[in-house]
Amino acid sequence: MGVDWPPTEPEPAMIKTETRERVATIELARIEKKNALTAAMYAAMTDALAAAESDPGVRAILIHGARDCFTAGNDLKDFLEGPAGASRALRFISALSKVGKPVVAAVGGPAVGIGTTLLLHCDLVYAAPGARFQLPFVPLGLVPEAASSLLLPRAAGYQRAAAWLLLGQAFTSDQALAAGIVTEIVPEETLLERARAATVALAALPRESLRLTKQLMKRPVAAGVAEQMAEEARLFAERLQSAEAKEAMAAFIEKRKPDSSRF
Ligand code: COA
Repeated sequence: MGVDWPPTEPEPAMIKTETRERVATIELARIEKKNALTAAMYAAMTDALAAAESDPGVRAILIHGARDCFTAGNDLKDFLEGPAGASRALRFISALSKVGKPVVAAVGGPAVGIGTTLLLHCDLVYAAPGARFQLPFVPLGLVPEAASSLLLPRAAGYQRAAAWLLLGQAFTSDQALAAGIVTEIVPEETLLERARAATVALAALPRESLRLTKQLMKRPVAAGVAEQMAEEARLFAERLQSAEAKEAMAAFIEKRKPDSSRF
């Protein structure tokens, strides 16, 4: 029998899940890295979504990070190491876009990259005043994902979406609320309570009416969303291999300014 020596420390769970009051909660818990999402975290989140969707005891899903940090988006080190992160991210976001049960998100602090794009697939989004949304795909040499290149211009209007998706300009909770991608702004101290209360309220509603109404709201764009997601993913995978993206991501990890002038 093989002996595991020296003993390996079990990895701390960076995604915490819990089911209580008919609500399945997915918590991002890698705060020392600002909840940056690794391939393993996406896989755990996708499994948690599938488990929640198939569990008849679960009626609604809540996604949150810390009160002052939702997520810094994809782990850039993971991206540099290979395509696994991107394909797991795609699997997660594709699963989220198809979940039939209502999904609520609570957002405080940074919500970067997929931290913002995943919200476009949630049903209710509660944000703290200090939440800061950012989609730095172009500055990173990448392209948008999660059908955000379709859903954000539809929600916010083309020119506002262009400032966020082309310039990569960060935006506030007030701006996100005005653009229709946030449901309500809630003080940071009560953010999680408010989001949880809304999720519990959804869980108490007639299940089939809720499912059908969500389906009706999503139906007009569902095919377009899937198609746009696939096209974005094709280009994203290409861009990940580009010298521009590699330089931008390496610069972040090495804590220096990227030199895009060479490309
Ligand atoms: N990937 C990998 N590591 C990340 C990360 C990411 N996306 N975001 C943050 N981290 C790490 C930092 O490298 C740092 O690690 P260290 O303590 O070992 O040096 C730690 O998390 C804390 O980050 P830091 O930048 O010091 O925190 P901050 O409060 O000053 O800034 C952010 C927070 C989110 C604004 C900033 O970290 C950021 O811009 N991150 C990158 C966001 C991004 O481009 N995401 C990809 C979108 S596709």
